[in-house]
Amino acid sequence: MVKAAKYIQNTIFAPMNILLLGSGGREHALAWKLTQSPLCTTLYIAPGNAGTRELGQNIALEATDFQGIKAFCQTHPVDMVVVGPEEPLVKGVYDFFLSDAALNHIPVIGPSAAGAQLEGSKAFAKGFMQRHGIPTAAYREFELAQLEEGKAYLWQQPLPIVLKADGLAAGKGVVIATTHEEAIQVLEEMVLDQKFGDAGKKVVIEAFLDGIELSVFVLTDGHNYKILPEAKDYKRVGVGDSGPNTGGMGAVSPVPFADQTFMDKVVSRIVEPTIKGLQAEQLTYKGFVFLGLIKVNGEPYVIEYNCRLGDPETEVVMPRLKNDLVELFLAVSTGKLSEVSIEVDQRAAVTTVAVSEGYPGDYPKGREINGLEAMATEDNVLVFQAGAIFKEGKVLTNGGRVLAVTAYGESIPAAASASRAGLGKIFFSGIYFRPDIGYEFQ
Ligand code: AMP
Ligand code: GLY
Repeated sequence: MVKAAKYIQNTIFAPMNILLLGSGGREHALAWKLTQSPLCTTLYIAPGNAGTRELGQNIALEATDFQGIKAFCQTHPVDMVVVGPEEPLVKGVYDFFLSDAALNHIPVIGPSAAGAQLEGSKAFAKGFMQRHGIPTAAYREFELAQLEEGKAYLWQQPLPIVLKADGLAAGKGVVIATTHEEAIQVLEEMVLDQKFGDAGKKVVIEAFLDGIELSVFVLTDGHNYKILPEAKDYKRVGVGDSGPNTGGMGAVSPVPFADQTFMDKVVSRIVEPTIKGLQAEQLTYKGFVFLGLIKVNGEPYVIEYNCRLGDPETEVVMPRLKNDLVELFLAVSTGKLSEVSIEVDQRAAVTTVAVSEGYPGDYPKGREINGLEAMATEDNVLVFQAGAIFKEGKVLTNGGRVLAVTAYGESIPAAASASRAGLGKIFFSGIYFRPDIGYEFQ
């Protein structure tokens, strides 16, 4: 494809080189979407994976290696940085670029470190919701100095009760305790034994909400916002949502119970006050706000904020988004998001994640993945790689979540069965996947 300059809202934009940070299935899906744009000339991915390698140039740099990224941007013509995971955002990659005279001409898609606290600190997020009247579970926060007070508080709470380490804990910092003894033990492990290091210095204790969860993705330029297709992910490793939590075993979009009435409540009670709150507190935010929501008796509550897109939700959200993603990001960086409208593919999309045997516990690496070439020509099926590495001409497993197979369909069951059928053509020793993604929407 010849990539030429493009007019957007009366402004001419030249094709550009983009640096995408991250290495998961989310980043492969973002790379797939970005490279479809006539505005993307070269895509660099740091560090990327075997899948992103086919769409651009993988760079051997960790997403949190800011000095390495700076050196790369000074020797390569990078025009925009897109941040996939939360860690570089919470560590301030946005601010790092803005405050450096050699880098501050390069827009970064993602919030400032101050904005990323919505994910980086659960206590900050709860305080933010309280200040702006955003519905969420009732809570209190405790530190080591208040351990005895915290224990006494826990004894009085109804069960189950939820304990959350304040900081980033790789998805492991949330415990739903079913007895008071367990809750107290978890509180002690977090604040006294520092099981999660500094992340657990402060603990949020909140009421358990009983409902159904979904993920809503908002793209904002700090003033205006657009809502992307919603999704539901499947976190448990086993059939019927059993067994331990994982990084995500699959996802569906749309979410049938997120009907118009419900989404109207999400917008007026959660999205608008969130964007207005960011402005009121002068939290610079040009990126994604991921709302982890729960629907309780028809009403939406925020379970968590994330400052990025979800994984594996991105593997169904990007396939359903019809807009040019580079154009959306340019609108974000220039503050013109109000001038674009989101177009959504009306088909359903379902993704099923293939994991290594043993995951989420210990698992082997280095197993050869077969069947990928044949999938490249399949209609309506997309393979997004995650824990997969290219070595000596072969694609090998390199992580717990190895790849995600996304399929479109006229309904969720149709897309789910096409996703499973696609996965059936891929093989590596010890492959495991959930055969029931989207089961409750049959
Ligand atoms: P988080 O890391 O905050 O997303 O929490 C991980 C998971 O714990 C969520 O996806 C929910 O399934 C569950 N969870 C967190 N907070 C609550 C709550 N207040 N009530 C019920 N479940 C919760
Ligand atoms: N799928 C949930 C997350 O990305 O945090």
